[in-house]
Amino acid sequence: MSAAIHVRDLHKRFRTTQALAGVSLDIEPGEFFGLLGPNGAGKTTLISVLAGLTRADAGEASVMGHDVVRDYRQARRALGVVPQELVYDPFFNVRETLAIQSGYFGLRHNDDWIDEIMHHLDLTPHAHKNTQALSGGMKRRLLVAQALVHKPPVIVLDEPTAGVDVDLRRSLWAFISGLNREGHTILLTTHYLEEAEALCGRIAMLKAGRIVACDTTRNLLRHTNEHCASLRLDVESLPSGWQARVQRDDDGNWRFSFGDYTELENLLADLRGAGVRVRELHLQEPDLEDVFTDIMQRA
Ligand SMILES: Nc1ncnc2c1ncn2[C@@H]1O[C@H](COP(=O)(O)OP(=O)(O)O)[C@@H](O)[C@H]1O
Ligand SMILES: [Mg+2]
Repeated sequence: MSAAIHVRDLHKRFRTTQALAGVSLDIEPGEFFGLLGPNGAGKTTLISVLAGLTRADAGEASVMGHDVVRDYRQARRALGVVPQELVYDPFFNVRETLAIQSGYFGLRHNDDWIDEIMHHLDLTPHAHKNTQALSGGMKRRLLVAQALVHKPPVIVLDEPTAGVDVDLRRSLWAFISGLNREGHTILLTTHYLEEAEALCGRIAMLKAGRIVACDTTRNLLRHTNEHCASLRLDVESLPSGWQARVQRDDDGNWRFSFGDYTELENLLADLRGAGVRVRELHLQEPDLEDVFTDIMQRA
């Protein structure tokens, strides 16, 4: 079976900016895949190439085995894209917009599916509102609905929750996760790393047009072995040998970063030896945010 998304050595330059500098990526059918990277990393450019909106300078890309240039129509049909920018046609209402979008794909009897998507995205009460009258969150829902009218096997969401309230984020993720369980492949870019951590099985990190990390979310979380302990102590200064390694934060807690738990054991043993009482101890495991920051700094 061919990859849901296959990208090989993709290059794209805008005048002086190398937006994509040799990106290769394979996403298997059924994956929930995250594409992360700072602003300007090339995420939207990569998505535009997949959607046939931008022509790459070199390299190849295909969706469900269809080359995005040679088999443009089939590739486009296999793909549903929720764009980063809020674009909409101001002359139509919600239902009309979805019917027109269906028409682009040659789907004339699509009403049942349109009803179902509107229901899942809580758009039904707004079906007859002009798109101009929709709030930002509602426009975002309509963009998601538009991306799904042709039931594409591959769904790409480009920062779909930027500036979106918690309710919509929750209902959107419930809906998208459901589609993923039914077999749809999901490619998601987001700035909310806790979202990516919770949803994505695999993640690629992009920096300046290059992939600097690509692994399962689980493996990425193991990437840093930095743990952090926060301690509330009954002292104003620490036993000798620890001053340099344990910092006091603004709240008066002592923060200790360590790689191996024996280091924490040693600290606690020395505190006990010095008669220092530990009033509270909190451990923080590294999250995707820590991993992301670390990888971006090293790259
Ligand atoms: N149409 C364009 N014309 C000129 N430069 C562009 C264009 N589109 C993107 N770029 C530049 O390419 C780089 C990657 O942009 P983009 O793919 O939008 O990044 P991201 O989505 O990761 O924030 C940025 O430096 C951006 O300014
Ligand atoms: Mg972008």
